[in-house]
Amino acid sequence: ESGKLWGGRFVGAVDPIMEKFNASITYDRKLWEVDVQGSKAYSRGLEKAGLLTKAEMDQILHGLDKVAEEWAQGTFKLNPNDEDIHTANERRLKELIGETAGKLHTGRSRNDQVVTDLRLWMRQTCSTLSGLLWELIRTMVDRAEAECDVLFPGYTHLQRAQPIRWSHWILSHAVALTRDSERLLEVRKRIDVLPLGSGAIAGNPLGVDRELLRAELSFGAITLNSMDATSERDFVAEFLFWASLCMTHLSRMAEDLILYGTKEFSFVQLSDAYSTGSSLMPQKKNPDSLELIRSKAGRVFGRCAGLLMTLKGLPSTYNKDLQEDKEAVFEVSDTMSAVLQVATGVISTLQIHRENMGQALSPDMLATDLAYYLVRKGMPFRQAHEASGKAVFMAETKGVALNQLSLQELQTISPLFLSDVNHVWDYGHSVEQYGALGGTARSSVDWQIRQVRALLRAH
Ligand code: ARG
Repeated sequence: ESGKLWGGRFVGAVDPIMEKFNASITYDRKLWEVDVQGSKAYSRGLEKAGLLTKAEMDQILHGLDKVAEEWAQGTFKLNPNDEDIHTANERRLKELIGETAGKLHTGRSRNDQVVTDLRLWMRQTCSTLSGLLWELIRTMVDRAEAECDVLFPGYTHLQRAQPIRWSHWILSHAVALTRDSERLLEVRKRIDVLPLGSGAIAGNPLGVDRELLRAELSFGAITLNSMDATSERDFVAEFLFWASLCMTHLSRMAEDLILYGTKEFSFVQLSDAYSTGSSLMPQKKNPDSLELIRSKAGRVFGRCAGLLMTLKGLPSTYNKDLQEDKEAVFEVSDTMSAVLQVATGVISTLQIHRENMGQALSPDMLATDLAYYLVRKGMPFRQAHEASGKAVFMAETKGVALNQLSLQELQTISPLFLSDVNHVWDYGHSVEQYGALGGTARSSVDWQIRQVRALLRAH
């Protein structure tokens, strides 16, 4: 006996190189628990269909528990012949309970088995990752709340734009992550569909009750078509895309923080716990945590693009190409788990330099507010923009800051400038103007915090 699940029609041996090439056990062993779970549900389905006696089912169930116990205790011994986790578990079951084990796979194929396992595994992973994501969001919202009075420069095109609250910046990233969290829930919904009972391609001919299998494994729904069910990996693609977009957000946040942490900016300082030094330059403290977050994005995108390429040319139904889905899922899950935890650590231990942030604000960043001043005096915005631009030019020509122009000088640009123009030069006054929902005024930032907290509670 070859020890293969498919040895019957084979005479010659498989080339050792091919054996290794074909095997997935080195990584799909991660599925041991869900594989046992799926098999237990399936044996219940077989018993209900009259294909197993109650005694046989009990024997199989006990045997499978024993298999799981060995995995859990680290005593499960793999054979060189164990091609994948399904082969390994069934082989071991047979060693433990004898020939009855051979009835377990009745009407089942590894095609519906593996995709059931993967869905079970990913369902669990989604819950774990969702928890880590919310942890990060919570950390960010806590900071936003605690540091709401800190102002610093906001940039567009990396050019000084307008004064904003530091919390407004934090929340800009937290809000993006709430969408990732919502998206993950959607992905999980489509993962949560049972393919078991689809067989290899055509379905199950032995009257297995798929509704029973669904309930046993508490899936939300049952796949509609056996050909589709055994070969579609939309849920994997969606998961990888979810991760890609989430990494895009984390990578952009990391990039901001790397920049803000340079001596030139000196807005933030990474804690030692998330930095490393240089082997050559003694003074260096490098933001490796953030750089790695940024770089892991590339790795995750690669897995997403790679899977789509694997899928695009496949003829209908199961092809061995699909075996490659698992490494993508495992690698991306591990990466996301690590990245989310490191990001949480970075944010929660980050130091901010409030004075530097405040000192980095400059009157030219209030040129927009100067235009709004004139708008409030009745001037059309286009004219006000022009007038404020002239003031900027005048200040630049005279080599003074925008707020150093005298009232007389401003009045040569527009008679609408009066002594109350002084208020414009107050940064606190500036941010407080942006009170419409979503803006950087205190009331609006508080509103954002309440909105995100409400999502946190709902989760
Ligand atoms: N290890 C395989 C995989 O990961 C299991 C399914 C194999 N099915 C087959 N017909 N060869 O996809």
